[in-house]
Amino acid sequence: MGVKLIHIPKAHDVRGSLAVIEGDCIPFEIKRVYYLFDVPSDAYRGGHAHKEQQSLILALSGSFEVIVNDGKKSERIMLNKPHIGLYIPTGVWREIENFSSGAVCLVLASTEYNESEYIRDYDTFVSSKQS
Ligand code: TYD
Repeated sequence: MGVKLIHIPKAHDVRGSLAVIEGDCIPFEIKRVYYLFDVPSDAYRGGHAHKEQQSLILALSGSFEVIVNDGKKSERIMLNKPHIGLYIPTGVWREIENFSSGAVCLVLASTEYNESEYIRDYDTFVSSKQS
């Protein structure tokens, strides 16, 4: 379905780690950055697909699980390292759950926010994949 883990290059020494996202490290130009924080452990986020947006999701702190679904198969991926992001191309349904205490979910997006490019209804998403 085109979903893949991307390792962000990092410099590590006794002072800690520094990860850098630049150049062609991720397969799109970043137009927007947003992040989820103070998320209750029983919260369910996402629950949508995009007609245009590509995303990279990172667990900057803590952990959570991302369920991705291309209309044919579904996969559950735990993110728990700040330098390993999950790339999600256009047209993939995603849900995010099981947030650890203090988790911060960073999303790098290829588009500015535009509600009209969201598919928020699962049946509509499945139909879009069949046509
Ligand atoms: P929502 O899409 O429900 O979050 P998620 O799918 O990640 O769980 O977004 C929550 C609210 O924030 C909703 O009212 C739309 C708004 N929002 C923006 O205004 N700009 C943005 O870039 C995003 C991602 C959401």
